[in-house]
Amino acid sequence: MIAEAGKAGEKSWSRVELIREAFHYQSRFEGSTMVFKVDFPVTENPGFPFLVKDLALLARTGFRVVIVPGAKEWIDSVLAEYGIVSSYSGSIRITTSQAIPFVEMAAYHVAARYMTGLAGSRVDGAIGNFVRARGLGVLNGLDMEHTGEVDKILTDSLSRALDQGMIPILPCIGYSPAGKPYNVPSDEIALAASGALGAVKLFIVSLSGGLRKGVHAMPDTIETGEEGRVVRLSPQEGEMILAANAASTNAASTNAASGKPEPGTTPGRLEGGRPLEELSLALRASRAGVERVHIVDGREDGAILRELFSNLGSGTMLYTDEYESIRPLRSSDIPVILRLMDPLMRQGILVRRGAEQILEKKADFAVFEIDGSVHACGALHEWGEAQGEIAAVATDPLYADMGLGRRVVGCLVDKARKKGFRRVFVLTTHTQDWFESLGFREAAVDSLPERRRKVYDRERRSKIFALDLEGQQIP
Ligand SMILES: CC(C)(COP(=O)(O)OP(=O)(O)OC[C@H]1O[C@@H](n2cnc3c(N)ncnc32)[C@H](O)[C@@H]1OP(=O)(O)O)[C@@H](O)C(=O)NCCC(=O)NCCS
Repeated sequence: MIAEAGKAGEKSWSRVELIREAFHYQSRFEGSTMVFKVDFPVTENPGFPFLVKDLALLARTGFRVVIVPGAKEWIDSVLAEYGIVSSYSGSIRITTSQAIPFVEMAAYHVAARYMTGLAGSRVDGAIGNFVRARGLGVLNGLDMEHTGEVDKILTDSLSRALDQGMIPILPCIGYSPAGKPYNVPSDEIALAASGALGAVKLFIVSLSGGLRKGVHAMPDTIETGEEGRVVRLSPQEGEMILAANAASTNAASTNAASGKPEPGTTPGRLEGGRPLEELSLALRASRAGVERVHIVDGREDGAILRELFSNLGSGTMLYTDEYESIRPLRSSDIPVILRLMDPLMRQGILVRRGAEQILEKKADFAVFEIDGSVHACGALHEWGEAQGEIAAVATDPLYADMGLGRRVVGCLVDKARKKGFRRVFVLTTHTQDWFESLGFREAAVDSLPERRRKVYDRERRSKIFALDLEGQQIP
């Protein structure tokens, strides 16, 4: 009797803990945006209406919920029904002008299933043309016709819908500014929407079974739960798993570095292939600034709520806390930044520097580190007269257009301010537009501090761009 009472006590205690955890996460994430990419097979699962109910519940309790429904298998079956044969360039379907009306019909049909579910939960859904797309053009000599990629996520209209408590639904169709429809992979839409909306979380909901020890090769250090489920991963660990499973990742036709589909390869549907694609997508999302990416099993009742509101969760979480930082240069980084700068020095974009010169000015340099490895650098040199020169700014091409360069310059500008400088300048032969976009303006050689003017290489004819520090911020 006593033992039974004890058990009942434990049970209610664990419930209380669960409620506490739920409140903690509720207050932490309330008002933040979460994108849910749901693979098509999940909609065919008997638990699907409950999953939509859970999404509605989240929207009603103050989360900003965006749904990106996958429709691949449904599109396949609609095209087959109408006798339209798809051809592929590698893993990418070529959506012909004959196929696109059927692809639109299939994509909107899947989106409508969510609308139906949301209506039943008294939450407004909004299926809209929130995605501007552009065509892939001609790939490997093949006209991709109506197959497109994300050009832009129309965040203004999405935000208006979210502000009104609606759940926007983004089918796998985007439109060019001229109104031409394109079929765009829903993984890409989810990724772009997460980045553009500053989502704190991206959920990838699928029936893939997720990453598992035993099915996927992985280092021993990775934390696993019941049935070998990978509970949480840092991006570095995620990269290690991709590398350890490189053969099947390649077969899954993704580029491990960019995670983008590799045109010209065979679609990968090996066992264990989709979880690796999901991991690759999760890594790309984390690089785009999404703090947490969760991969959950759409068959499990309440999988999203458990993942969201409890520490252990129910799926796999890729987390990026302390994932990246800008820090001073260490001697051990010098070979890495030289490797970064070398092609640029050879092209004459950056002034030549050797390891010794960098070591001499080590304190001037800052590097951008992502999960333990350096992917961008820059330096601030002092020339007197309260002016500093920003130099040697370089970003690893694999990490281009992710704001690393801007953040390095921002950090160097902050450093200059702290040193009491009134102005920073840069000498550039190729990158004036970029510096202009950061607020720098062209200046005369005469405006340089005297010491710098004396060593100005007139043959190189670099342009001078300067930023006055009074009140200026890097955008
Ligand atoms: C210039 C450089 C540092 C930018 O790095 P980055 O990390 O990709 O930069 P960000 O992500 O902050 O900014 C990218 C944006 O700038 C644009 N951009 C990149 N290089 C540019 C250039 N040379 N001119 C104009 N715009 C440029 C990109 O198109 C992108 O635009 P978006 O806002 O539409 O996305 C990088 O391209 C590089 O290493 N260049 C060679 C070295 C160099 O020129 N250094 C400067 C001399 S000190």
